[in-house]
Amino acid sequence: MKSKASAPGKIILFGEHFVVFGIKAILCAIDKRITVTAEKTFDNKITIESNIGNLVADPKTPINKIDSPLRPFYFLADMIIRKQEEKSGLKITVDSEIPLGVGLGSSSACCVAGAAAISGIFEKKSKEEILQMAIEAEKTIFPNTSGADCTVCLYGGLIQYDKKNGYSRIDSEPNFELVIANSKIEHSTKEVVSNVKQFKEKNEERFSKMCTQENELIEDVLVCLKNNDLKCIGRNLIKNQKYLEIIGVSNEKLRNMIEIATKYSFGAKITGAGGGGCIFALTDENNREKTIHQLKENEYDCFSVKIDFRGLDTF
Ligand code: PMV
Repeated sequence: MKSKASAPGKIILFGEHFVVFGIKAILCAIDKRITVTAEKTFDNKITIESNIGNLVADPKTPINKIDSPLRPFYFLADMIIRKQEEKSGLKITVDSEIPLGVGLGSSSACCVAGAAAISGIFEKKSKEEILQMAIEAEKTIFPNTSGADCTVCLYGGLIQYDKKNGYSRIDSEPNFELVIANSKIEHSTKEVVSNVKQFKEKNEERFSKMCTQENELIEDVLVCLKNNDLKCIGRNLIKNQKYLEIIGVSNEKLRNMIEIATKYSFGAKITGAGGGGCIFALTDENNREKTIHQLKENEYDCFSVKIDFRGLDTF
């Protein structure tokens, strides 16, 4: 028997970095998916096949001995096999539409779809149980994950998250399209976050004022989202990007991409840690093609997405 599940990627619309210091962030799921297929085998092995490589390992191998980006899948498979009375192996196949490692939620989507597909072979779990398993799996690669990424990948739509109150769904269903462009510069979230901490320590007063401003901006965005006011969301994207420039997470290439995208869209900014990774522009059907065309003219890799309201799907 095969068990199959798919989950969407995500982007951070507003609030990255400031969220580390207690400010609210807004995330949304995007309609690019990862599909995971799991099936029982009789070889007593855990086999994982994906477009970023393959892994074959024996069950009960200590997790720190699994040196592979596919570790969350191994973790999930091993945990679920251990709970079964009879011995069995598992084969897991991963199929991704999401570029990996550029802040578009590929690892969270893997964990959510992986938890649902692998557990689905043996029993049907609730969404809450799948979320807990997915977050545990993601911790095997990002020990400090807040769980916000897995949450948005599981439920789809828009969520708000802050450290004190956790996450909650935003009911708005704004009708926009996002053009995502990939700088193809590798970045380490950990390193960029640590640079921002240093910036804060050297500029306490300024940083604290910026947190207040970011907080006001986010509250304004929540109203714009409710009203589907793209011009207002766009203005806030431009403002938020200015704050990200000040705290030092941008660079020349990202600035150039944002400048081009802003000219033709409602607004654009970095998404995620910065230093590399992706930017996105807010568009609708009238300015989407022009924005894509201009970015491509400048040889930037880009594609458009909508908000995904489906979240986790199981088949
Ligand atoms: O680049 P991503 O998607 O891993 O996002 C990082 C978001 C930060 O706010 C910079 C860090 C964090 O832990 O929230």
